Amino acid sequence: MNPASESVGTASANVPDATGRYGAFGGRYVPETLTRALDQLAVEYAKAKADPAFQAELDQLLQDFVGRPSPFYHAKRLSEKCGGAQIWLKREDVNHTGAHKINNTLGQALLTLRMGKQRVIAETGAGQHGVATATACAHFGIPCVVYMGEEDIRRQAPNVFSMKLLGAEVRPVTTGSRTLRDAINEAMRDWMSSVDTTHYILGSVVGPHPFPQIVRDFQSVIGSEARVQSLARFGRLPDSVVACVGGGSNAAGMFYPFIEDKEVELVGVEAGGRSDGAGDHASPLTFGSPGVLHGSYSYVMQDDDGQTCDVHSISAGLDYPGVGPEHSYWKDTGRVRYTDCKDNAALDAFDALASCEGILPALESSHAIAAGMKVAAEKSSDQIVVICLSGRGDKDAAEIARLKEERK
Ligand SMILES: Cc1ncc(COP(=O)(O)O)c(C=O)c1O
Repeated sequence: MNPASESVGTASANVPDATGRYGAFGGRYVPETLTRALDQLAVEYAKAKADPAFQAELDQLLQDFVGRPSPFYHAKRLSEKCGGAQIWLKREDVNHTGAHKINNTLGQALLTLRMGKQRVIAETGAGQHGVATATACAHFGIPCVVYMGEEDIRRQAPNVFSMKLLGAEVRPVTTGSRTLRDAINEAMRDWMSSVDTTHYILGSVVGPHPFPQIVRDFQSVIGSEARVQSLARFGRLPDSVVACVGGGSNAAGMFYPFIEDKEVELVGVEAGGRSDGAGDHASPLTFGSPGVLHGSYSYVMQDDDGQTCDVHSISAGLDYPGVGPEHSYWKDTGRVRYTDCKDNAALDAFDALASCEGILPALESSHAIAAGMKVAAEKSSDQIVVICLSGRGDKDAAEIARLKEERK
């Protein structure tokens, strides 16, 4: 039997269970060396979650350092262009460091201090998680090493420069496809030999328990704010909520507070890449099958022998063959609809938001804009579609210029 089918049922917000399972998904598939560190992290996180002083310190930082709550913005001209529902943007792009990633890194940096660890490592694809980790570490004075694939170092040069300015050491990863998946492999390898002194600030809702839960909880501030903002503006919840899915952290943070609001449609957008052919996209929820990657059981792009496949996306942050286990659970329970957006459609959505609204979205977020525009076009003008604008596009300007040249 396909183990994924075990989890079919109604999606509950009351997951994971004590073993880190979301239905059949999640769990912990790691060498024994890491078990103690993960246990310590789970215990420390449970204590922190129950400690009002911890939440108060994080809330203060999110307000004064990050600039939360992030704005809830009516994209009027973009809505007119679509000719359907009203599009509202949850503006994570205006956070300090330019993306949602900072919400999670500040929370995990506080956990690092609570655990008495003296060094932080991280992995990054688009560089936004690397910059956010370097920023949190500079803020607290913690030494920081960031692993990054060579291909991503090329694509995301401005973020590499920022990480170095912030005092982080960026270690190029030259194995495999030299992208996010290889960077996570290297970070895990480092952690195995440094676990007593080092905390690994994972950047998405992936990895072994308790990471998917910790990252989801720290990112849920996005959806909680959007919920309050919707009720304040419209006196009701939105009709649809749309977010892009790489590992899945901005989407998990956006969706989780709406999971039990059955009337709200939730749409996750994967990277459709160049084509539906194997190796041409990064859409494990659309084309993958359940398997183990980076310590967790979830949908993965893999071949018949269980080997993880190469994937492709125009955006470094979505260029990943796996996805967080809670998304797999939401897929199989039918609570979230997953779709994909091709490279070219994301580039067109980038142009649409830039020209209609004066906002340059990150290439990752452009996937959500493209799908959100489609969702809006099918609705009436009294309906509301909220799109998570996960990050800003400055980091992608040079890459977009190159891609446009290629398209000519
Ligand atoms: C702006 C932005 N959006 C989305 C993502 C994808 O990550 P996740 O799916 O964890 O939100 C990234 C990853 O780097 C990113 O930088």
